[in-house]
Amino acid sequence: MQSPEGNPDYRDSGLVFDTAFVIGSATAAYQIEGAVTADGRGPSIWDTFSATPGAIVNGDTGEVADDHYNRLEDDLDLMADLGLEAYRFSIAWPRIQPLGSGPANLDGLDFYGRLVDGLLDRGIRPIATLYHWDLPQALEDAGGWTNRETAYRFAEYARLVATELGDRVQVWTTLNEPWCSAFLGYGSGAHAPGRTSGADALAAMHHLNLAHGLAVQVLREVVPNAEISVTLNFHVLRGDDETSPQAIRRIDALANRSFTGPMLAGGYPADLIADTAEVTDWSFVRAGDAAIIHQPLDFLGVNYYSTARVRMWNGTSPRENADGHKDVGGSPWPGSRDVEFVQQDGPFTAMGWNIAPDGLEELLVSLASQFPGLPLMITENGAAFDDEVVGGAVGEVVGAVDGARVHDVERLDYLRRHFTAAHRALARGVDLRGYLVWSLLDNFEWGYGYSKRFGIVHVDYETQQRTVKDSGRWLSKLIRSHVIPE
Ligand code: NOJ
Repeated sequence: MQSPEGNPDYRDSGLVFDTAFVIGSATAAYQIEGAVTADGRGPSIWDTFSATPGAIVNGDTGEVADDHYNRLEDDLDLMADLGLEAYRFSIAWPRIQPLGSGPANLDGLDFYGRLVDGLLDRGIRPIATLYHWDLPQALEDAGGWTNRETAYRFAEYARLVATELGDRVQVWTTLNEPWCSAFLGYGSGAHAPGRTSGADALAAMHHLNLAHGLAVQVLREVVPNAEISVTLNFHVLRGDDETSPQAIRRIDALANRSFTGPMLAGGYPADLIADTAEVTDWSFVRAGDAAIIHQPLDFLGVNYYSTARVRMWNGTSPRENADGHKDVGGSPWPGSRDVEFVQQDGPFTAMGWNIAPDGLEELLVSLASQFPGLPLMITENGAAFDDEVVGGAVGEVVGAVDGARVHDVERLDYLRRHFTAAHRALARGVDLRGYLVWSLLDNFEWGYGYSKRFGIVHVDYETQQRTVKDSGRWLSKLIRSHVIPE
């Protein structure tokens, strides 16, 4: 909880993090694993979507990705070399239930068992996310997240995974960024399954909330000592003119309170329901849902990359769409198409996202005061930049030899500034428990395919050679000293 006098341990100690503060890195199954048909895995909505012409930059797919599925031991050694204290990964639902229901596919469970054992053997704390966007295609064929039944299927899947891994995994996250699943998946169509209906996006939002609540109940029952969380991507909103307060309220309702309302405060905000009344009658909410969704959590996972600046669109000027997501067929903002995302001041990352470490501090302080008593963890923060591998022996594949380096000064600087912002939040008394950098490896960046690199480790997609970038070396130093290095 935030205290008015702040936390003296952090206030007066230079850039030191407590030994209990967990520093590590994160990935997600579809983005790194590849091996999409191995050992009985079924197809997910991202396999289908990435096979759709025009959906992904360069026609990339997750078919091979970082081939992590086949390189598990080497990647575990890499994590140990970096000194990671925690590793956040996701479990691919279609590896566990290829068709989204029924008994567990034991080979799928076995992969995650080996991953967890490998982490524990190396002293790395596993943080398991149950859903990072790879819905089994069979469930999408039955309506996907617009179908209430999907939430109940998710709870069954959660039970299978928790029963298998609960003796070894203590820290669990139900959903990763459900806003993206609902509003980019079913609203704008920029993400799988690529549907473009505002009403569907809102129904999906509710069923994701329901899935979260049901899964928390299952985890509590199956893993009594579990630390349970959800990871949300908060929109940190800034204003531009006198219409901005209205625009900020609208987007805050759709992007932030649409999840924190039911999950943490017991219900949907009245303004969200009013704003979307023309889009949906909200009949997808049933009696009793609010109580299911509103489950006590042990911490809240926070993903933060950037801020957004909004105002109401006056209907005449060319409407900008600088919200950092590819604008495909529909809108990710049902009921609020008249909100305009305004281009911000730089500097920017390769995603075109503005770099704003203050936004992280502001967000953490604001969450601590909105939800007193709920610890926070940064479950993702990081940056894409265009990297270059330099060095290595002449005549060899660059990057495939000792001596190759990636001098990613911009990413290193981004991380240093955001870790410093997190430290400021700690000094102000925020109960922040850890910081996981996105991402361990360059990987499949959804609609952007392999064109955007977020890794602290470079991946050569031809050779699958991993090269620790300077940012990775820097993070390693930070982890070993618990002091933010120069
Ligand atoms: C959030 C998502 O959880 C992750 O999958 C994605 O790669 C990063 N943001 C960067 O866009």
